[in-house]
Amino acid sequence: MGESDRKRYNCWIGAMKSFYLETFGCQMNVHDSEKVIGTLEQRGYAQVDTADAADLVLYNTCSIRDKAEQKVFHRLQEGKRVKGKVFGVLGCVAQQEGEKIFERAPHVSLVVGSASYTKLGELLVRIEAGERKVTGLSLDTEDTFETPLTRRDNPHRAYITIIEGCDKSCAYCVVPFTRGPERSRTSQSVIDETAKLASSGYSEIQLLGQNVNSYRDPSPAGWDFARLLEAVGSVPGIRRVRFTTSHPRDFVKEIIDAIDRTETLCNQVHLPVQSGSSRVLAAMQRQYTRDQYMQRIEWMKNAKRDIAISTDIIVGFPGETDEDFEHTLHLLDEVEYDSIFSFKYSQRPNTPALKLEDQIPEEEKSRRLTILQERQRAIQMRRNTNLVGGRQEVLVEGSNSSTGQWIGRTSQNRILNFTTAPRPDGTVIPRERMIGNYLPVRVTRAGPNSLVGECAIAV
Ligand code: SAH
Ligand code: SF4
Ligand code: F3S
Repeated sequence: MGESDRKRYNCWIGAMKSFYLETFGCQMNVHDSEKVIGTLEQRGYAQVDTADAADLVLYNTCSIRDKAEQKVFHRLQEGKRVKGKVFGVLGCVAQQEGEKIFERAPHVSLVVGSASYTKLGELLVRIEAGERKVTGLSLDTEDTFETPLTRRDNPHRAYITIIEGCDKSCAYCVVPFTRGPERSRTSQSVIDETAKLASSGYSEIQLLGQNVNSYRDPSPAGWDFARLLEAVGSVPGIRRVRFTTSHPRDFVKEIIDAIDRTETLCNQVHLPVQSGSSRVLAAMQRQYTRDQYMQRIEWMKNAKRDIAISTDIIVGFPGETDEDFEHTLHLLDEVEYDSIFSFKYSQRPNTPALKLEDQIPEEEKSRRLTILQERQRAIQMRRNTNLVGGRQEVLVEGSNSSTGQWIGRTSQNRILNFTTAPRPDGTVIPRERMIGNYLPVRVTRAGPNSLVGECAIAV
């Protein structure tokens, strides 16, 4: 029986309900969705590709900036016209807006924040019983959302959450309100999950948390993050380990030492700075100065491995002067980041910065963002050009049918699009032989956002 026949058959016998899930936001949300999907499938739901085809329509939402929040209300608006479906809002907007969502979108029946996913099973039972205003909004949990039911789609790279929530209080940020207090998993459960994934063929692990550096093993072993990182990298079968996100305040030199010692730990660190001005950093309540941040950068630059560094930057935080912004531009030149994510400051509910006066006009924020991104583009072009002529090992992740190139990713997290030597018999390499392989590729060209290369090995 084909997949669509099976779904039709199950619907016909009334055994299977269908669900559609759309995910917004960060990797933690993406991974939460994998766990939500596993939980739903275990309860007899089948995933479908469109909201139209689903009995249960779920949005796993992000609230980090206003635009992200608006997106989900647009989606809900579109759904209002369709009768006979159950709608649910999960994740950060659910936690932030709570029962107000029922007023703004009365056709929504389920509102669940990520700190309550451990109760998802019970909440679904109530929905299935016909209840139409079900919430899971408690933040006072000690638990992490661990489940053996995670449904991962990528067969080579797997996310593992090691710490949930955030105990910092950056003045602009909703995360401490939407994801609750920090809770770390035991090191043993992280290692066991890694070993299980390795034995199922996964070779790359990405450790997740809003602040992985404040990981503290709750078991008597009491490991810190550097220790955990090295242990995950030593699990047989694992070839690459990445981690995100690091908070500079809790970023210790032992992490760099672990990368230097352990080849499987990728030479890539994402260390969000937010601003190059110590004055703005203080107003943001980031708990470090520019000099302290630069000390972390020095550790990386002095490492034995060539560590690629990326960051997040917010422009137009309330009170940011032209001079503050200049400091951020100089920081880019000084650090020479390999990539950045940059955002215009967005006012968020409940956050301390909401009350600050001296908001920067929208046009000025846009102007600063453009200048910042142009400056960084030139830096990236330069850094990528330095790699031309050298060899990089890539994990093959996909292919681009329009260019005929394979898409690989380097340990430094760069995209390297490449071609392979023609096969002697003229046949095309089957996708399944390439995807998931690690191959050496010679870099022939560079752009600001990716590299181009050739692989001489006949596959
Ligand atoms: N825990 C991570 C950040 C997670 S949010 C950390 O501390 O680095 C990802 C990024 O979104 C942040 O680094 C910040 O640059 C950006 N961001 C968060 N709140 C924002 C806001 N109110 N306006 C604009 N950008 C914001
Ligand atoms: Fe938000 Fe700061 Fe926590 Fe990151 S560390 S999630 S920016 S409060
Ligand atoms: Fe967004 Fe929540 Fe992640 S606000 S960035 S989905 S933690």
